[in-house]
Amino acid sequence: MSNSNDKQGKITTATLGTGGPAVGVQGLGCMGMSFAYGPTTDEGEARATLERALELGVTLYDTADVYGAGENEKFIAPFIRANRDQVVLATKFALSIDPENPQVRTIRNDRPYIRRAVEASLQRLGVDEIDLYYMHRRDVNVPIEETVGAMAELVAEGKVKHLGLSEVTGGELRAAQAVHPIAAVQSEWSLFSRDIEAHVVPAARELGVALVPYSPLGRGFLTGSFVQAEELSGDDFRRTMPRFTGDNAAANAALLEPVRRIAQERGASLGQVALAWLQQQAQVHGLTVIPIPGTRRRSRLEENAGATRIILTADELAALEPIAGKVAGGRYADMSFTSAGRE
Ligand SMILES: NC(=O)c1ccc[n+]([C@@H]2O[C@H](COP(=O)([O-])OP(=O)(O)OC[C@H]3O[C@@H](n4cnc5c(N)ncnc54)[C@H](OP(=O)(O)O)[C@@H]3O)[C@@H](O)[C@H]2O)c1
Repeated sequence: MSNSNDKQGKITTATLGTGGPAVGVQGLGCMGMSFAYGPTTDEGEARATLERALELGVTLYDTADVYGAGENEKFIAPFIRANRDQVVLATKFALSIDPENPQVRTIRNDRPYIRRAVEASLQRLGVDEIDLYYMHRRDVNVPIEETVGAMAELVAEGKVKHLGLSEVTGGELRAAQAVHPIAAVQSEWSLFSRDIEAHVVPAARELGVALVPYSPLGRGFLTGSFVQAEELSGDDFRRTMPRFTGDNAAANAALLEPVRRIAQERGASLGQVALAWLQQQAQVHGLTVIPIPGTRRRSRLEENAGATRIILTADELAALEPIAGKVAGGRYADMSFTSAGRE
């Protein structure tokens, strides 16, 4: 890690896996700008957030072809093109959602699909090359070696620089790495979701692969900014998620007590404590960790980036340790497509 940028108010940097690019130790999740968390995106503010991130040294920008069925890639495209040399652009393939019925999802990992998907993403983004191309979800009917082989062709052809995998098991990661170096695994990891620590994190450490935790703020829940899914707008994806609905939501909100106490003692926000905890898992587990909190607002981005400067004490870490084990409800209604669902 480097502290060389601190004087300019920028966050520090780390290398995204063996041979990967240098990125700010926190990235920006762009999904919510077009998809998933309600209809209230102020587009001007979201664009300003993209710009402000770069000023703060947040250089890893995360999107996927499925976010808003291509709309999220199109939304960030002008910003990416204008700042091509400074931005590390990550997008993903494999998942499509039926627009008529969002519960119906298709997962494809086969070579012809991947080749079509990458061309479509390159076109929407208006770039010649994607810096980090992830398999978003695993189709167990296609051997992982075949999928990574097809992804490696894209590297050889100059369409993609580095490869990543999302929601893979430790075993799948090892099999993939035997075909082509993997820069990063992107999986859910937060104070509320720690299942990947059993197999995925040890495999990533052993192989020198970076961990990019998604939903590091527990989809906003860890910031204390909402309690019940019913408080959210009708099209908000979180209304379908077991942790945020019914009795689970109230039980889970009570678990935030030590987060709230530490935040108060430090004059920090709850979200900052959650992000600082995650950032510190890099030292705990001995690997690179680049969380990608998602926000559409500059004020929240600044707050989140500020968390990279907080170092929690051993006592604070110990107080946060029991939370994940007590969380009520799975992280998805259907866990079959997650790494935990296959391990
Ligand atoms: N690989 C995968 O399968 C996968 C799955 C999910 C997400 N992702 C990626 O990971 C990124 C982050 O995950 P996520 O967006 O699901 O969840 P998250 O980062 O845990 O939380 C995002 C939510 O928290 C709110 N928020 C952010 N900062 C806040 C703050 N300081 N105070 C209060 N609220 C705050 C955001 O609202 P505002 O936007 O209104 O600020 C948004 O509703 C996504 O953008 C996406 O790129 C990947």
